Amino acid sequence: LEDDWPGEPNDPYWSQQLDLAEEELRQGAWPSCEQRASAVELKGSARAQYVVAKCLDLMAEAKRDNRLLSKAITAYVELLKMNERLSDRKLVDIAQRAIDRIQFRGTYLNAEPVYRLLIRRFPDNVHYRNNLTVSFLMANRADLADTVLKETLKLWPNDRIALAHYGFVLKNQYNKLEESVIYLQKALEGDAGAANEPRFFYHLGDALLQLGRLKEAQEIHEKGAKLGHFLSPEQRSLYNVARLKSRPWWPIEATPYVKLVRDLENSWKEILKEGLAAKELFEKEKEGLKERGEWSQLDVFVRGKEIPGRCERAPVTCSIVRQEASARCRRGQIKFSLMEAGTHVRPHVGPTNCRLRMHLALSNTKDTYIRVGKVTRQWELGKVFIFDDSFEHEVWHNGTGSRLVLIVDVWHPDLSATERKTLPAI
Ligand code: LMR
Ligand code: MN
Repeated sequence: LEDDWPGEPNDPYWSQQLDLAEEELRQGAWPSCEQRASAVELKGSARAQYVVAKCLDLMAEAKRDNRLLSKAITAYVELLKMNERLSDRKLVDIAQRAIDRIQFRGTYLNAEPVYRLLIRRFPDNVHYRNNLTVSFLMANRADLADTVLKETLKLWPNDRIALAHYGFVLKNQYNKLEESVIYLQKALEGDAGAANEPRFFYHLGDALLQLGRLKEAQEIHEKGAKLGHFLSPEQRSLYNVARLKSRPWWPIEATPYVKLVRDLENSWKEILKEGLAAKELFEKEKEGLKERGEWSQLDVFVRGKEIPGRCERAPVTCSIVRQEASARCRRGQIKFSLMEAGTHVRPHVGPTNCRLRMHLALSNTKDTYIRVGKVTRQWELGKVFIFDDSFEHEVWHNGTGSRLVLIVDVWHPDLSATERKTLPAI
């Protein structure tokens, strides 16, 4: 930051105070630095404003203090907003630090004013617009992302990143599948260029599957796998550990979970009773995976943690799963899954290859089917089967009555103890 600051103090006293504050900043004397620079800031000095923000920033980092971090972010954003005369170089450097801190703090909407300034100063740079879009999406504000994307595509109709995000928004926010496919296809045409990312291939394939355009979906899945975005055309989870053994169906004896399986099977009638007795707590499936029918679930453990009070309702179930540490899987759940007759769950994949999924069949399994990869199987009352839900799978209930299963996700057996502790939860 070599170039000049606007509003440098004329008065030698304040000028010296500011130099002192900068020295304190270098030496890590943050509280006095902040105090001294704040006094100079009142004189309208942008450099003083910067020193205050930087002190707060470094102090927040050292103390791991989110309240201070929020103060630092506010100070950076105010500095940027109040100083239209900052040089390009200073604007970019300060804006980048502010955005970095905002992302770290997770308050994505706060990045908007910063990106707006960058867009106004550098109207020819599409990256700032695309990054603003991403911030809105991270903040779950697809509606705001949509507006920015429309403006961006008006100016840059062939920008692949904007095309891909717009396709994503059309699909996930508005369920406009045909349109979404057009944008995602255009984004990924040929060598896919800047939009060559796993999630865009994933969403294009998923939209095509939902539209029943199976051959095109297959082509995208093959292309995605060839580019290394998917473990294989059928195994399309996005949060993966690379070396894990991949197979859609796991014979029980091929896993270290034989005891857990036998314990579940031996108590299946009590587990069934616990599931049925908690019926009022079931919640409708929210991910939009069913193409028709009724499907609800009752979470017992999510990301390895009990939902408070659930084990009181299902004591037998919990006492069994608690004996197997691998069933406290932070990348999975333990839940009852209740499916009404006439339901079809469309082909889909789970988010990660780090878990295996057990099903204990509890009721009305006649004429119900599950396909995982290329192999379709049926449930057998009181019995467990194990599959890897990162492979494409699909479920039909063509029978009568409500089908109940207990789902128990366990860590993939190839994961090390360290990985089980440190992999981020999903
Ligand atoms: C799935 O993962 O989609 C299945 O476990 C759903 C179910 O309840 O059969
Ligand atoms: Mn599934």
